[in-house]
Amino acid sequence: MPETTPKGLARLAFGGDYNPEQWPESVWQEDVRLMREAGVTMVSAGIFSWALLEPERGRYDFGWLDRLLDLLHAHGIRVDLGTPTVVPPVWFYREHPEALPVTADGVRYEFGSRGAICPSNTDYRAAAANITTRLAERYADHPALAMWHVHNEYGVPVSACYCDSCAAHFRRWLETTYGTVEAVNEAWGTAFWGQRYTGFAQINPPRTTPTVGNPAQALDYRRFADATLRENFRMERDILHRLSPGVPVTTNFMTALSQCDSIDYWAWGREVDIVTNDHYLITDGRRTHVNLAMAADLTRSVAGGAPWILLEHSTSGVNWQPRNPAKAPGQMARNSLAHVARGSEGAMFFQWRQSRRGAEKFHSAMVPHGGTGTRVWREVVELGASLDSLSAIRGTRTQADVAVLWDWHSWWAQNLDWRPSEDHDARERADAFYEALYDRHLTVDFAHPEADLSAYPLVVVPALYLLTEAAGRNLTQYVENGGTLVVSYFSGIVDEHDAVHEGGYPGPLRDVLGLTVEEFSPLLKGDTLRVTGPGGTELTGDVWSEFVVPDGAETVWTYADGLTAGRPAVTRHRLGEGTAWYVSTRLDAHGLDALLGRAAEDARIAPRADLPHDVEVVRRTGESGSYLFAINHSPSDAKVPLEAHGTELLTGERAAGRLAVPAGTVRVVRLDG
Ligand code: GAL
Repeated sequence: MPETTPKGLARLAFGGDYNPEQWPESVWQEDVRLMREAGVTMVSAGIFSWALLEPERGRYDFGWLDRLLDLLHAHGIRVDLGTPTVVPPVWFYREHPEALPVTADGVRYEFGSRGAICPSNTDYRAAAANITTRLAERYADHPALAMWHVHNEYGVPVSACYCDSCAAHFRRWLETTYGTVEAVNEAWGTAFWGQRYTGFAQINPPRTTPTVGNPAQALDYRRFADATLRENFRMERDILHRLSPGVPVTTNFMTALSQCDSIDYWAWGREVDIVTNDHYLITDGRRTHVNLAMAADLTRSVAGGAPWILLEHSTSGVNWQPRNPAKAPGQMARNSLAHVARGSEGAMFFQWRQSRRGAEKFHSAMVPHGGTGTRVWREVVELGASLDSLSAIRGTRTQADVAVLWDWHSWWAQNLDWRPSEDHDARERADAFYEALYDRHLTVDFAHPEADLSAYPLVVVPALYLLTEAAGRNLTQYVENGGTLVVSYFSGIVDEHDAVHEGGYPGPLRDVLGLTVEEFSPLLKGDTLRVTGPGGTELTGDVWSEFVVPDGAETVWTYADGLTAGRPAVTRHRLGEGTAWYVSTRLDAHGLDALLGRAAEDARIAPRADLPHDVEVVRRTGESGSYLFAINHSPSDAKVPLEAHGTELLTGERAAGRLAVPAGTVRVVRLDG
């Protein structure tokens, strides 16, 4: 069994990407001194260093990395060592220009940035295997080595290549997946628009076409591209496992749906020894702390609930958005500790020392351009001390209240062209339902639609356009056995090949929901609908409406306007021991709260009305005890009720009754008992 915690790391992970090759070695001495001052426990090194480690094919220079690892070890700092395979050196590309990836439009990218890799290219694979082998042979037994960090953020910036090698590789993948070309024709529905193939050799990647291409082909290409990246990861991982046993292997994920859409993290979570994640705040006007919580919950979920590590976030602003605000005082600590509350075993950053040159020189860092006399540095040092006082939480697990179903394959299928409305966005629904649950102070686990859901009193399906028959049976059984299910519109429409389920919408969910949807009726931009229901409540829908025909379900809210006036908008169906809700329009935050309130009653989840808005309360429990995290994102001081006495770990004070959480601060109470 491979190791699942960083070797020799006895505290929470705290540190960052360390790229000392950008600095003279004299600066390294200052770096390690400052790392000690800040309480750094681990750094990630070597991620982009291939050109230095192998300056010419077959000529290696490991001297600087030897000195670096020795220096870090001498200062008690553990190392997450990168395989530098995300940026092959220029000599490699000049020898193998076909290793540069090609877009769907046939444009070949040039060297000079990062991540320009054709994942099917056999020369790339051989060179990556070689440098990984050399590193593993040299450093497997180095005392500083805690963990291997393969590549960097697979899927970003190039998620798929459309070159001839990829075309050949895609054909092999299709042959393995389908066996015969007839099976491909059937799955892709090539009878439509005369797209029939008579041999695998005729099939190409979904390159640019005059109008919409075959959707099932496009969906399979996303699966193929993801699987190909995973082949490359496995190749490196297996070398490391063989040559460096006992040292866990990871690759940094980017689970935030706004940051990477090309990776099926359910599949990747099973491949790594430790799940690690990178997360950056997207400042698009939404509540960044809610998006952060969602990404952290998704990360924990792909880790199967096990502890994971936040490998990168930012101390302050980033540099790749149109406008990059600095973080407010205290925000970095709130961000870091929110990840920890949701299962991260530490908080790491991109990067340790802010670069003077290169594309990321305006990205914040732990040691800013302004040096140690700065607010950022003072907050970094404070955070190091806070994390140190939380060491005991290692190994504990975050407790969730409800499950939200998510599936990357469904998202990919949903985002193909020519859908009933371009205003319906699966990610937007996932975000909106998540936010409504967050505002009810419920902690969310994400789950795959075919996963065992029996542990959850409430399961929410924000948008699962693609849903297999097996998933439909899973949800039906879940309700029959006493669960409460909430399903939002345009779910359960197609099977795994993007073929519409037979027998009417929503295919495998009709029985559990007790209804059929006869027709979709998306709204025009800006149009809204009134929806009236219990106690005279009036909700607002937009984007979508449907002609719902109940078959066992009761109507709870009814459309008051539009083409669907007088018909069911929100329904409830008792089945077996449980209840299934269906909502056929896009409700706003108020409407979602009303719906989830009713569903939570069915699920017997007591409202948490005693918790203030924007005060996040999350629990981690395990052998070492039970810990309550209270994070006050609001501008007002707050009080959080405690169910037991305890010790507040950041201040060392005793806590009982109502815990004071001043505006903008975090409190972590270890409950007695
Ligand atoms: C990450 C990447 C880092 C750095 C960072 C900047 O996606 O892994 O190398 O570029 O973004 O925010």
